[in-house]
Amino acid sequence: MLELLTHDLARATQVIAAGNLCVIPTETVYGLGADATNKDAVAQVFTAKGRPKDHPLIVHVANAEQSGEWFAQLPDWAIALGQEFWPGPLTLVSTRTELASDFVTGGQNTVAVRVPNHDLTSALLNQLLDTGTRGLVAPSANRFGHVSPTIATHALADLGDYLKAHNGCILDGGACALGVESTIVLAVDGRPQVLRPGGITRRMIREFTGLEIFNPADDAPRVPGALAAHYAPDAIVQLIEPTDQLECVDGQGVIAAKSVEISGNYVELARPTNDQEFAQSLYAALRSADDLGLTSVAVVLPGSDGLAEAIRDRLSRAAHTN
Ligand code: TXA
Ligand code: MG
Repeated sequence: MLELLTHDLARATQVIAAGNLCVIPTETVYGLGADATNKDAVAQVFTAKGRPKDHPLIVHVANAEQSGEWFAQLPDWAIALGQEFWPGPLTLVSTRTELASDFVTGGQNTVAVRVPNHDLTSALLNQLLDTGTRGLVAPSANRFGHVSPTIATHALADLGDYLKAHNGCILDGGACALGVESTIVLAVDGRPQVLRPGGITRRMIREFTGLEIFNPADDAPRVPGALAAHYAPDAIVQLIEPTDQLECVDGQGVIAAKSVEISGNYVELARPTNDQEFAQSLYAALRSADDLGLTSVAVVLPGSDGLAEAIRDRLSRAAHTN
Protein backbone atom coordinates (compact mmCIF):
# COMPACT_ATOMS: atom_id res chain seq x y z
CA MET A 1 0.00 0.00 0.00
CA LEU A 2 1.43 3.39 -1.01
CA GLU A 3 1.77 6.07 1.65
CA LEU A 4 -0.94 8.72 1.36
CA LEU A 5 1.48 11.63 1.88
CA THR A 6 3.67 12.27 -1.14
CA HIS A 7 5.86 14.82 -2.94
CA ASP A 8 5.54 12.94 -6.20
CA LEU A 9 3.92 15.17 -8.86
CA ALA A 10 3.71 12.38 -11.42
CA ARG A 11 1.70 10.30 -8.98
CA ALA A 12 -0.57 13.25 -8.12
CA THR A 13 -1.16 13.84 -11.85
CA GLN A 14 -2.09 10.17 -12.34
CA VAL A 15 -4.45 10.21 -9.38
CA ILE A 16 -6.31 13.24 -10.76
CA ALA A 17 -6.33 11.87 -14.32
CA ALA A 18 -7.82 8.61 -13.02
CA GLY A 19 -10.74 10.60 -11.59
CA ASN A 20 -9.63 10.28 -7.97
CA LEU A 21 -8.89 12.82 -5.24
CA CYS A 22 -5.57 14.50 -4.46
CA VAL A 23 -5.20 16.92 -1.55
CA ILE A 24 -3.21 19.96 -2.72
CA PRO A 25 -1.23 22.54 -0.74
CA THR A 26 -2.01 26.21 -1.37
CA GLU A 27 -0.92 29.45 0.28
CA THR A 28 -4.30 29.66 2.09
CA VAL A 29 -5.29 26.17 3.28
CA TYR A 30 -5.03 22.65 1.85
CA GLY A 31 -7.67 21.83 -0.78
CA LEU A 32 -9.31 18.55 -1.76
CA GLY A 33 -8.52 18.49 -5.47
CA ALA A 34 -10.44 16.76 -8.28
CA ASP A 35 -10.73 17.26 -12.05
CA ALA A 36 -13.33 20.03 -12.35
CA THR A 37 -14.72 18.60 -15.60
CA ASN A 38 -15.16 15.03 -14.29
CA LYS A 39 -18.60 14.57 -12.75
CA ASP A 40 -17.76 11.38 -10.85
CA ALA A 41 -14.53 12.85 -9.48
CA VAL A 42 -16.39 15.94 -8.24
CA ALA A 43 -19.05 13.70 -6.69
CA GLN A 44 -16.26 12.04 -4.68
CA VAL A 45 -15.34 15.44 -3.22
CA PHE A 46 -18.82 15.85 -1.74
CA THR A 47 -18.85 12.29 -0.39
CA ALA A 48 -15.37 12.50 1.14
CA LYS A 49 -16.12 15.83 2.86
CA GLY A 50 -19.73 15.09 3.81
CA ARG A 51 -20.55 18.37 2.08
CA PRO A 52 -24.14 19.24 1.04
CA LYS A 53 -24.50 18.72 -2.73
CA ASP A 54 -25.75 22.19 -3.65
CA HIS A 55 -22.68 24.01 -2.32
CA PRO A 56 -20.60 25.40 -5.21
CA LEU A 57 -16.87 24.77 -5.52
CA ILE A 58 -13.90 26.95 -6.48
CA VAL A 59 -12.07 25.99 -9.70
CA HIS A 60 -8.27 26.27 -9.34
CA VAL A 61 -6.35 27.05 -12.53
CA ALA A 62 -2.68 27.43 -13.49
CA ASN A 63 -2.70 31.11 -14.45
CA ALA A 64 -4.89 34.15 -15.07
CA GLU A 65 -5.30 33.45 -18.81
CA GLN A 66 -6.62 30.00 -17.99
CA SER A 67 -9.45 31.57 -15.97
CA GLY A 68 -10.78 32.89 -19.30
CA GLU A 69 -11.89 29.35 -20.20
CA TRP A 70 -14.23 29.33 -17.21
CA PHE A 71 -15.59 32.90 -17.22
CA ALA A 72 -18.02 33.94 -19.96
CA GLN A 73 -17.24 37.53 -19.17
CA LEU A 74 -15.42 39.53 -16.50
CA PRO A 75 -15.68 43.27 -15.85
CA ASP A 76 -12.44 45.15 -16.64
CA TRP A 77 -11.79 45.89 -12.96
CA ALA A 78 -11.93 42.17 -12.19
CA ILE A 79 -9.55 41.26 -15.04
CA ALA A 80 -7.13 43.83 -13.63
CA LEU A 81 -7.55 42.41 -10.09
CA GLY A 82 -6.69 38.93 -11.34
CA GLN A 83 -3.62 40.22 -13.15
CA GLU A 84 -2.49 42.04 -10.02
CA PHE A 85 -3.19 39.49 -7.30
CA TRP A 86 -2.90 36.09 -9.04
CA PRO A 87 -1.34 33.79 -8.15
CA GLY A 88 -2.69 34.61 -4.72
CA PRO A 89 -5.51 34.39 -2.18
CA LEU A 90 -8.22 35.89 -4.40
CA THR A 91 -11.27 34.10 -5.80
CA LEU A 92 -13.38 35.80 -8.45
CA VAL A 93 -17.00 34.81 -9.05
CA SER A 94 -18.58 35.67 -12.39
CA THR A 95 -20.74 34.32 -15.22
CA ARG A 96 -19.65 30.90 -16.43
CA THR A 97 -18.85 29.23 -19.74
CA GLU A 98 -20.18 25.75 -20.52
CA LEU A 99 -16.94 24.29 -19.13
CA ALA A 100 -18.33 25.04 -15.66
CA SER A 101 -21.02 22.43 -15.12
CA ASP A 102 -23.87 22.49 -12.65
CA PHE A 103 -22.03 19.87 -10.57
CA VAL A 104 -19.31 22.49 -9.91
CA THR A 105 -21.47 25.60 -9.55
CA GLY A 106 -24.31 24.01 -7.60
CA GLY A 107 -26.57 25.02 -10.51
CA GLN A 108 -25.75 28.73 -10.21
CA ASN A 109 -25.05 30.71 -13.38
CA THR A 110 -21.76 31.92 -11.94
CA VAL A 111 -18.47 30.12 -11.32
CA ALA A 112 -15.73 30.79 -8.73
CA VAL A 113 -12.10 30.64 -9.97
CA ARG A 114 -8.70 31.26 -8.42
CA VAL A 115 -4.99 30.82 -9.19
CA PRO A 116 -3.32 29.43 -6.06
CA ASN A 117 0.18 30.52 -5.08
CA HIS A 118 2.16 27.42 -4.15
CA ASP A 119 5.07 25.99 -6.14
CA LEU A 120 4.01 22.34 -5.94
CA THR A 121 0.40 23.03 -6.86
CA SER A 122 1.39 25.41 -9.67
CA ALA A 123 3.61 22.67 -11.08
CA LEU A 124 0.77 20.16 -10.75
CA LEU A 125 -1.73 22.46 -12.48
CA ASN A 126 0.73 23.03 -15.33
CA GLN A 127 1.39 19.30 -15.75
CA LEU A 128 -2.34 18.67 -15.73
CA LEU A 129 -2.86 21.31 -18.43
CA ASP A 130 -0.45 19.36 -20.62
CA THR A 131 -2.64 16.29 -20.19
CA GLY A 132 -5.83 18.24 -20.98
CA THR A 133 -7.13 18.85 -17.44
CA ARG A 134 -8.32 22.46 -17.37
CA GLY A 135 -8.80 23.01 -13.65
CA LEU A 136 -9.25 21.43 -10.24
CA VAL A 137 -12.09 21.95 -7.83
CA ALA A 138 -10.57 22.21 -4.36
CA PRO A 139 -12.67 22.95 -1.31
CA SER A 140 -10.76 23.03 1.95
CA ALA A 141 -9.57 19.47 2.71
CA ASN A 142 -11.52 18.97 5.93
CA ARG A 143 -14.76 17.22 6.86
CA PHE A 144 -17.66 19.62 6.29
CA GLY A 145 -17.97 22.24 9.04
CA HIS A 146 -14.63 21.35 10.64
CA VAL A 147 -11.47 23.46 10.93
CA SER A 148 -9.60 23.91 7.62
CA PRO A 149 -6.22 22.14 7.28
CA THR A 150 -3.00 24.17 7.15
CA ILE A 151 -0.56 21.26 7.19
CA ALA A 152 -0.76 17.94 5.34
CA THR A 153 -1.39 15.85 8.47
CA HIS A 154 -4.56 17.87 9.25
CA ALA A 155 -5.99 16.70 5.91
CA LEU A 156 -4.77 13.18 6.71
CA ALA A 157 -6.65 13.23 10.02
CA ASP A 158 -9.94 14.31 8.40
CA LEU A 159 -9.85 12.50 5.05
CA GLY A 160 -7.17 9.79 5.35
CA ASP A 161 -9.61 6.88 5.61
CA TYR A 162 -11.54 7.96 2.54
CA LEU A 163 -8.41 8.65 0.47
CA LYS A 164 -6.86 5.32 1.41
CA ALA A 165 -9.99 3.43 0.41
CA HIS A 166 -10.35 5.30 -2.91
CA ASN A 167 -6.82 5.52 -4.34
CA GLY A 168 -6.30 9.15 -3.38
CA CYS A 169 -3.20 10.93 -2.13
CA ILE A 170 -2.02 14.03 -0.28
CA LEU A 171 0.59 16.27 -1.86
CA ASP A 172 2.64 17.49 1.10
CA GLY A 173 3.71 21.10 0.58
CA GLY A 174 4.49 22.06 4.18
CA ALA A 175 2.65 24.68 6.23
CA CYS A 176 0.33 27.07 4.36
CA ALA A 177 1.85 30.54 4.31
CA LEU A 178 -1.33 32.54 4.87
CA GLY A 179 -3.50 30.16 6.89
CA VAL A 180 -7.02 31.45 6.09
CA GLU A 181 -9.11 30.94 2.96
CA SER A 182 -9.06 33.25 -0.05
CA THR A 183 -11.03 36.46 -0.37
CA ILE A 184 -14.11 35.78 -2.53
CA VAL A 185 -15.18 38.71 -4.72
CA LEU A 186 -18.38 38.70 -6.77
CA ALA A 187 -17.51 40.32 -10.11
CA VAL A 188 -20.67 40.49 -12.20
CA ASP A 189 -21.04 44.25 -12.58
CA GLY A 190 -19.35 47.53 -11.68
CA ARG A 191 -19.57 46.87 -7.94
CA PRO A 192 -17.03 44.55 -6.32
CA GLN A 193 -18.82 42.61 -3.56
CA VAL A 194 -16.76 40.79 -0.95
CA LEU A 195 -18.56 37.49 -0.25
CA ARG A 196 -15.83 36.22 2.10
CA PRO A 197 -12.98 38.30 3.58
CA GLY A 198 -9.44 36.92 3.25
CA GLY A 199 -5.81 37.75 2.56
CA ILE A 200 -6.58 40.25 -0.19
CA THR A 201 -8.17 42.91 1.96
CA ARG A 202 -10.96 45.38 1.19
CA ARG A 203 -8.42 48.19 1.29
CA MET A 204 -6.14 46.44 -1.24
CA ILE A 205 -9.09 45.99 -3.61
CA ARG A 206 -10.34 49.54 -3.11
CA GLU A 207 -6.92 51.10 -3.57
CA PHE A 208 -6.11 49.01 -6.61
CA THR A 209 -9.46 49.38 -8.43
CA GLY A 210 -10.43 52.81 -7.14
CA LEU A 211 -13.93 51.39 -6.66
CA GLU A 212 -16.15 51.34 -3.61
CA ILE A 213 -16.38 47.82 -2.12
CA PHE A 214 -19.82 46.47 -1.30
CA ASN A 215 -21.04 43.87 1.13
CA PRO A 216 -23.02 41.03 -0.39
CA ALA A 217 -26.43 42.14 -1.61
CA ASP A 218 -29.40 40.25 -0.16
CA ASP A 219 -29.70 38.26 -3.37
CA ALA A 220 -25.95 37.51 -3.63
CA PRO A 221 -25.10 33.79 -3.93
CA ARG A 222 -25.00 31.87 -0.71
CA VAL A 223 -21.56 30.95 0.58
CA PRO A 224 -21.38 27.89 2.86
CA GLY A 225 -18.22 29.26 4.44
CA ALA A 226 -20.60 32.01 5.52
CA LEU A 227 -22.90 29.66 7.43
CA ALA A 228 -23.20 30.74 11.03
CA ALA A 229 -21.42 27.64 12.33
CA HIS A 230 -18.32 26.56 10.39
CA TYR A 231 -14.58 26.13 10.90
CA ALA A 232 -15.45 24.70 14.32
CA PRO A 233 -13.41 22.55 16.71
CA ASP A 234 -15.13 20.37 19.33
CA ALA A 235 -13.93 22.68 22.11
CA ILE A 236 -16.11 25.67 22.96
CA VAL A 237 -14.60 28.86 21.52
CA GLN A 238 -14.98 31.93 23.73
CA LEU A 239 -14.37 35.24 21.94
CA ILE A 240 -13.01 38.26 23.79
CA GLU A 241 -12.83 41.75 22.28
CA PRO A 242 -9.29 43.20 22.07
CA THR A 243 -7.84 43.73 25.56
CA ASP A 244 -4.42 43.98 27.28
CA GLN A 245 -5.32 41.58 30.08
CA LEU A 246 -7.03 38.22 30.18
CA GLU A 247 -8.07 36.15 33.16
CA CYS A 248 -8.50 32.49 32.27
CA VAL A 249 -10.55 29.68 33.67
CA ASP A 250 -8.28 26.86 34.93
CA GLY A 251 -7.22 24.53 32.13
CA GLN A 252 -8.56 26.76 29.36
CA GLY A 253 -6.71 26.99 26.07
CA VAL A 254 -5.63 30.47 24.98
CA ILE A 255 -5.08 32.11 21.62
CA ALA A 256 -4.02 35.72 22.13
CA ALA A 257 -1.48 38.22 20.84
CA LYS A 258 1.87 38.05 22.59
CA SER A 259 1.24 41.51 24.06
CA VAL A 260 -1.79 40.34 26.10
CA GLU A 261 -1.04 39.68 29.77
CA ILE A 262 -2.65 36.43 30.85
CA SER A 263 -3.39 35.26 34.36
CA GLY A 264 -4.64 31.89 35.53
CA ASN A 265 -3.64 28.32 34.81
CA TYR A 266 -3.97 28.16 31.05
CA VAL A 267 -2.74 26.11 28.07
CA GLU A 268 -0.96 28.26 25.50
CA LEU A 269 -2.18 27.41 21.98
CA ALA A 270 -0.91 30.43 20.01
CA ARG A 271 0.71 33.76 20.95
CA PRO A 272 1.10 35.58 17.62
CA THR A 273 2.97 38.88 17.39
CA ASN A 274 0.96 40.25 14.44
CA ASP A 275 -2.13 39.51 12.31
CA GLN A 276 -0.12 37.48 9.76
CA GLU A 277 1.10 35.13 12.49
CA PHE A 278 -2.42 35.07 13.96
CA ALA A 279 -3.91 33.89 10.66
CA GLN A 280 -1.09 31.46 10.02
CA SER A 281 -1.38 29.71 13.41
CA LEU A 282 -5.13 29.96 14.03
CA TYR A 283 -6.45 26.70 12.55
CA ALA A 284 -3.59 24.58 13.90
CA ALA A 285 -4.21 26.09 17.35
CA LEU A 286 -7.93 25.23 17.19
CA ARG A 287 -7.11 21.68 16.14
CA SER A 288 -4.57 21.27 18.92
CA ALA A 289 -7.24 22.27 21.47
CA ASP A 290 -9.14 19.13 20.44
CA ASP A 291 -6.01 16.99 20.31
CA LEU A 292 -5.30 18.04 23.91
CA GLY A 293 -8.90 17.31 24.92
CA LEU A 294 -9.54 20.88 26.11
CA THR A 295 -13.16 21.79 26.73
CA SER A 296 -12.80 25.48 26.02
CA VAL A 297 -10.56 27.98 24.27
CA ALA A 298 -10.42 31.71 24.99
CA VAL A 299 -9.48 33.81 21.98
CA VAL A 300 -8.59 37.48 22.28
CA LEU A 301 -9.70 38.89 18.92
CA PRO A 302 -7.41 41.04 16.79
CA GLY A 303 -8.64 44.48 15.59
CA SER A 304 -10.94 44.54 12.58
CA ASP A 305 -8.87 46.02 9.77
CA GLY A 306 -7.10 44.23 6.96
CA LEU A 307 -6.36 40.55 7.53
CA ALA A 308 -7.95 40.81 10.99
CA GLU A 309 -11.36 41.00 9.28
CA ALA A 310 -10.85 37.48 7.91
CA ILE A 311 -9.60 36.20 11.28
CA ARG A 312 -12.64 37.64 13.07
CA ASP A 313 -14.98 36.29 10.41
CA ARG A 314 -13.69 32.71 10.79
CA LEU A 315 -13.59 32.93 14.59
CA SER A 316 -17.17 34.16 14.83
CA ARG A 317 -18.23 31.03 12.95
CA ALA A 318 -15.93 28.74 14.93
CA ALA A 319 -17.53 30.13 18.11
CA HIS A 320 -21.11 29.75 16.91
CA THR A 321 -23.00 26.86 18.44
CA ASN A 322 -26.12 25.59 16.74
O1 TXA B 1 -8.53 29.56 -0.09
C1 TXA B 1 -9.46 28.93 -0.58
O2 TXA B 1 -10.36 29.47 -1.24
C2 TXA B 1 -9.49 27.41 -0.33
C3 TXA B 1 -8.26 26.81 -0.99
C4 TXA B 1 -8.21 25.33 -0.89
O3 TXA B 1 -8.16 27.26 -2.32
N1 TXA B 1 -10.70 26.82 -0.81
C5 TXA B 1 -11.89 26.99 -0.18
O4 TXA B 1 -12.93 26.28 -0.74
O5 TXA B 1 -12.04 27.70 0.79
P1 TXA B 1 -14.32 26.03 0.00
O6 TXA B 1 -15.09 25.11 -0.91
O7 TXA B 1 -14.10 25.56 1.38
O8 TXA B 1 -15.01 27.39 -0.09
C6 TXA B 1 -15.42 27.84 -1.35
C7 TXA B 1 -16.34 28.97 -1.23
C8 TXA B 1 -17.64 28.49 -0.70
O9 TXA B 1 -17.99 29.26 0.41
C9 TXA B 1 -18.54 28.63 -1.89
O10 TXA B 1 -19.85 28.88 -1.58
C10 TXA B 1 -17.95 29.78 -2.63
O11 TXA B 1 -16.59 29.54 -2.52
N2 TXA B 1 -18.38 29.74 -4.02
C11 TXA B 1 -18.04 28.85 -4.94
N3 TXA B 1 -18.69 29.09 -6.10
C12 TXA B 1 -19.46 30.16 -5.89
C13 TXA B 1 -20.36 30.89 -6.68
N4 TXA B 1 -20.64 30.56 -7.94
N5 TXA B 1 -20.97 31.93 -6.12
C14 TXA B 1 -20.72 32.26 -4.85
N6 TXA B 1 -19.88 31.62 -4.03
C15 TXA B 1 -19.26 30.57 -4.54
MG1 MG C 1 -14.12 25.12 3.74
